[in-house]
Amino acid sequence: MCGIVGYVGSPRRTKDVLCESLRRLEYRGYDSSGICFVENGRSRVIKSGGKLENLFSKLKDCEVTSSLGIAHTRWATHGDPSEQNAHPQVSGPVSVVHNGIIENYLELKKELVAAGYEFLSDTDTEVISHLICDFTEKGNSLLESARKAFDKIEGSYAVAIMSDTEPGKIIATRRFSPLIIARNAAEFFLASDIPAILPYSREFIFLEDHDFVVITEDGISITDATGEVVNRTPTVVDWDPSVAEKSGYRHYMLKEIFEQPRAILDTLRGRFTGDMENVVLEDVDPSLLRKTQRVIIAACGTSYHASLIGKYMIEEVAGVSTQVELASEFRYRNIVTGPDVLFMAVSQSGETADTSEALIKAKKLGMNSVGVTNVSLSKISRESDCVITTKAGPEIGVASTKSFTAQVMVFYLFSIYLAVLRKAIDSNRAKELIADAISVSKLQQKTLELDEKLKDLSKDFHSYKNFIYMGRGINYPVALESALKLKEVSYIHAEGYAAGEMKHGPIALIDRNMPVVFIAPEEDIYYRKLLGNFQEVKARGGRIIFITSDEDFQLPDERDRKIVIPKSPYLVSPMVSVIPAQFLAYHVANILGTDVDQPRNLAKVVTVE
Ligand code: G6P
Repeated sequence: MCGIVGYVGSPRRTKDVLCESLRRLEYRGYDSSGICFVENGRSRVIKSGGKLENLFSKLKDCEVTSSLGIAHTRWATHGDPSEQNAHPQVSGPVSVVHNGIIENYLELKKELVAAGYEFLSDTDTEVISHLICDFTEKGNSLLESARKAFDKIEGSYAVAIMSDTEPGKIIATRRFSPLIIARNAAEFFLASDIPAILPYSREFIFLEDHDFVVITEDGISITDATGEVVNRTPTVVDWDPSVAEKSGYRHYMLKEIFEQPRAILDTLRGRFTGDMENVVLEDVDPSLLRKTQRVIIAACGTSYHASLIGKYMIEEVAGVSTQVELASEFRYRNIVTGPDVLFMAVSQSGETADTSEALIKAKKLGMNSVGVTNVSLSKISRESDCVITTKAGPEIGVASTKSFTAQVMVFYLFSIYLAVLRKAIDSNRAKELIADAISVSKLQQKTLELDEKLKDLSKDFHSYKNFIYMGRGINYPVALESALKLKEVSYIHAEGYAAGEMKHGPIALIDRNMPVVFIAPEEDIYYRKLLGNFQEVKARGGRIIFITSDEDFQLPDERDRKIVIPKSPYLVSPMVSVIPAQFLAYHVANILGTDVDQPRNLAKVVTVE
């Protein structure tokens, strides 16, 4: 989704820092880009459709001598992804980059057109630049103009503004969309997220809704909604910048698949009591959970699939009834609640608009809330009563991999924690479950050795137009997630099904042209039943990829392929069984030549509805 960067510092670095930060925002998804800097005392705006390379080639011979600039990657919402609709959007001296959606832009546009402003783009953003320009022309300072403009604007936004009327200054504000600032000895940075500016600082200030920040060579000044000067405490992030680099891998997605054992260890670190009989969840207030009668989880995309696995875990281990909701549905539907309902908002980025709105709704309905995010100061982390962070480190590939397994691990820890709290399990059982958690990283490490095998297998399967993935029990959501991975990165149509549902529809699709991928660990409590489903597919000529820990299983047909994964305890098996499916999606996409890390039309962080 759109990304914003800003820089104030040395003229020699402006172009490089802005371009490098834009490159680091690419992963969020975009379809055009633009930059604004000062040249001969006036703003110069350069924009381009398509990939950043198009913008960079326009900038190649451009000598940037200004000590500040703003830049943007756009993911089209209003208006096609053309150069004209790219940001900055300009009005007279004012240039604006924006992430979010202005909900009342049509009304504002009407007023501005009546006042004589000509609109050159189809964007909602253009109303911001015209409004600010209008207020500056009426004699207001740039900051006053911005404040007055945003008094009229409804919707979500993170914006950065420059104006020839007050050169040497960037003004930024936000509401609902993330915006962070950072500094080092003599430079100041502004960005939509940490990875964009991670090479330059380790201390970040997360602006709050309606904060206005003014950045000049002399420093940063933040005022809140009332205009009072405020001090926002910086957060120190211990992410190593190399974690956000490809480190020799061809794609971030592949690197992040390989990072899973490390992400699991980091997610487990410090989270057990000394006697290994209980889980420690540092930010969770046990008094909020003790009386929990029911859990409702809301999430989107891959986080939704991790939450479905969480349901199996919480019900199995803690015996608490759990329902999982797509956040986009939950936020609008009539929710029947009751006493002691715990709400969990699950989001890698912690910024997904639907999930954060679902959280706000759950809080209004009186539910206690737990956020599960990978970004500790994200919106969902800040708005939840308690937070459990996944420690996957920055995830750059749009298709989520390491944060999925880290989320699943958090659910596993949470279910043990809840079970102990409610005395649903004794200390021996807790110890056993904890030992199983600790075994996951090694099991994943072993599974990663299958990379070459899956690469080879992909050569035989990349030309199919459709795939079905099947699983049962706790591996049913793995089938959903595996199908999503293939769709996202290879653009091949794929469906995930609970294998028991096969007879109720999907079986009609099975023929020689339909590969069926079974997620079938032998320790799955439904394994024998899954073998029955296997036979049903075979009887109809389907071509099978059988992902199993059953080494002895004999495939009856040489067209079929078996992938042997290590045997894992049932409840943790999804963190192992998903890995071959991640490899399959990755290698098929690579053969087909798609843009694996930034698949078409997708965004990593979906901050709009
Ligand atoms: C986007 C991403 C997905 C992600 C989903 C939810 O669609 O492309 O990879 O699963 O958003 O994101 P979240 O940050 O809330 O987990």
